[in-house]
Amino acid sequence: MVKIQGVRGAPDILPPEAKLLWQRLEGTARAILERYNYEEIRTPVFERTELFVRSIGEGTDIVEKEMYTFQDKGGESLTLRPEGTAPAVRSYLEHARFGKGTLAKVYYIGPMFRHERPQAGRFRQFHQIGAEAIGVGGPEVDAEVIEILAYLFEALGLRDVTLHLNSIGDAACRPAFRERFAAYMRERKDDLCPDCHVRLEKNPLRIMDCKNPRCQAAVAGAPKAAENLCEACRAHFARVRELLEALGIPYVLNERLVRGLDYYTRTTFEFTAAGLGAQNAIAGGGRYDGLIETIGGPSTPAIGFAVGMERVILCLKGLEASAEGRREGVYVANADAAGASQAFLVARDLRRAGFRAVVNLEGRKLNRQIGQADGDMFLYCVILGENEVRSGQATVKDLKSGQQEVVPFAQLVDWLKAHPREAPAE
Ligand code: HAM
Repeated sequence: MVKIQGVRGAPDILPPEAKLLWQRLEGTARAILERYNYEEIRTPVFERTELFVRSIGEGTDIVEKEMYTFQDKGGESLTLRPEGTAPAVRSYLEHARFGKGTLAKVYYIGPMFRHERPQAGRFRQFHQIGAEAIGVGGPEVDAEVIEILAYLFEALGLRDVTLHLNSIGDAACRPAFRERFAAYMRERKDDLCPDCHVRLEKNPLRIMDCKNPRCQAAVAGAPKAAENLCEACRAHFARVRELLEALGIPYVLNERLVRGLDYYTRTTFEFTAAGLGAQNAIAGGGRYDGLIETIGGPSTPAIGFAVGMERVILCLKGLEASAEGRREGVYVANADAAGASQAFLVARDLRRAGFRAVVNLEGRKLNRQIGQADGDMFLYCVILGENEVRSGQATVKDLKSGQQEVVPFAQLVDWLKAHPREAPAE
C-alpha cells in the first residue's frame, strides 16, 4: 500500500514544539489580550463564499486566486476562511453584539486557509491570532491596538521587529487618491509587468506591492497616500502617531504599505521581523470603517490585527533558550510488582495535586525507567518497591542534581509542593 502523506503547505505541529512554542505563544497572547479586555470568539472555519468576496474584495489576490472554495452537498458555495476579520464581524453583526459608540473587543486564534505557493514562512493552512475592536472610530483605539502587538512581541522576547505605519485615507479622500495614482501609472504603463497591467484596471494601488524592480521604479515617484489625505484623515493619523510616540513605540512611516485586502481605511500597519527572508510580515492590520456596511450592517468603524503564528514561531526558534524544555513533574517508578500497584496510587494523588506524573506502562526494568524519566525531562523520580511499600516511605531522586531523599508516602505531595515543580532555567 502506498503510504498516505499530509497535504503540501499544511504542516503537522508535533511535540514538543506544540507545547514549547505554540502553547507558549497562545498563552502569552491570551493573557495580554485579556488584560486589554478582549474576549475570545470562535467562528466556523468555513463561511458563505460571498462574505469573503464582498469584504476582502473581488480584485484581490486572496479572492481571485487563493480561496479554498467548494460547493457543499446542498449546492451552496462555501469557502474555508482565508482570514478572521470578516467572520468575526459577520458573527458580531448576526448576534447584534455591537453598537456604534460602544467598543466591542474580540480575539480569535485558529487556522486560516490560502492556496498560495508554499515557501519558507508561507503555508496553505496557517494560524492567526487576531483581534478586532468594533464600534469606535477614534485614533486612541488605533494606538491601543498597535500597542498590544508591540507588547506581545516584547513579552515574547523578539528583537529586531519593525512597525511599519501608513494611512491610506477614507471614503472621502481615497477614491481621488486612487485616481491620481492610477493616472500617474497609466502614463508609465509600458514599464509595468503584465500582472500590474491587470492591477491597473482592477486595483491600481496594489501596484505599490509589486516586487518587480521595474514596477517599483515606476512607483517611486508616484503620489503618496499620506500626502493626499483629507483633513479628517490627516488629523486622525497625526493623533495615532502622537500616541505611539508618547507610548515610546518606534515605527517607520511606510507610504507604500497598502495591504492585500480591500476593506482598509485610514491607519494600516505591519510588523516585520529580521531574519525571515521574503515572508517577513509577522502581523498586519488596520482600520476598516466601511467593512460592516459592505456586509449588510450599519455604518460602524472598526480596527484590528492578525499575527501570523508560524512566522512568530520561526522567530522564537531563533532565540535559543525558548525552544528548550525545562525539567518538570514526577516519574513514579516501580522496582517490582508491589511497587507497581503503589505507583498507581501515588501518581493519582500527584496528578490531583497538579503535578505532571506518569507510571511505567511499558514494562521497563527500574534502570530503564529512571533513564526514561531523565530523557522525558521529569524533574523527580519517585522509586517504589516492596521495601518502600513495607516501610511506607518512598525514595525521591532529583534528576537534575542526582540527590536522593526518603519521604513517607503521606508526606510526598507536601514534600513535592515545597520543592520547585520545574527546574530553574540554566
Ligand atoms: P494579513 O496581512 O492577510 O491580514 O495576514 C496577517 C498575517 O498572517 C500576516 O502578516 C502573516 O504573518 C500571516 N499570514 C498571512 N498569510 C500567510 C500564509 N500563507 N502563511 C503563513 N502566514 C500567513 C489579515 O488576515 C487581516 N484579517 C488582519 C486584520 C485583522 N485586519 C484587521 N483586522
